[in-house]
Amino acid sequence: MIDIVSLSKNFGPRTLWSDVTTTVSKGEMLALVGPSGAGKSTLLNCIGLLDKPNSGEIRYAGKDITRFGRRDTRHFRREVLGYLFQNYALMENATITENLEIATKPKRSARGKANVVIAEALERVGLAGRGDEKIHYLSGGEQQRVALARLIVKEPALVLADEPTGALDHANATAVIDVLREMSDAGCAVIIATHDDRVRDRCDTVFAVNENSLVA
Ligand SMILES: Nc1ncnc2c1ncn2[C@@H]1O[C@H](COP(=O)(O)OP(=O)(O)OP(=O)(O)O)[C@@H](O)[C@H]1O
Ligand SMILES: [Mg+2]
Repeated sequence: MIDIVSLSKNFGPRTLWSDVTTTVSKGEMLALVGPSGAGKSTLLNCIGLLDKPNSGEIRYAGKDITRFGRRDTRHFRREVLGYLFQNYALMENATITENLEIATKPKRSARGKANVVIAEALERVGLAGRGDEKIHYLSGGEQQRVALARLIVKEPALVLADEPTGALDHANATAVIDVLREMSDAGCAVIIATHDDRVRDRCDTVFAVNENSLVA
């Protein structure tokens, strides 16, 4: 699904990581671990085309995505990628439903179908029937669950999650990992930057960014 080949990143003279080589397959959940500042978020941002590596390749479906132009980048973000940030990246002044509608595939936007998909996703994250509530009235954990519902609705082939459990209590953290695990079991490739051992334990593979190697 994603082949990272000899990827390197420096900021000025400082090398963050170099020669990173690893693969994430369909249905696989990979944890990126390493101390604060090791470059986990930067690596996720490179895969998500928000940042550029200095050398190496990130291959998806036979193409080096680091060389994508504007058009391919937009397509990759819209059709392939799902992002789960710690700050949720929700539209604050919009309702829960409005935040999920933007993630529904155009094909499904035949109204009725999109509504069903959204209702099912809200049910899955424990927010059934709350679609009309505004984001800014929700608690942090509830907002995180809306972000998760948006991911479920989007059905991306690749999910990038940056410390998705960082600010959550035990129950909410478990709910997040459960959903990511379900998505990966359904064939999605999931890459998670995390300091959380519970997340790490649920992943298939662990890659230590600071050591540039898979952890047994
Ligand atoms: N645009 C930039 N210019 C210079 N340095 C940067 C830039 N972006 C990130 N860095 C540096 O790269 C290092 C790695 O940052 P990154 O956020 O990837 O680490 P991380 O492993 O995600 O850490 P944490 O566990 O704390 O989230 C940091 O020291 C940061 O200051
Ligand atoms: Mg980080």
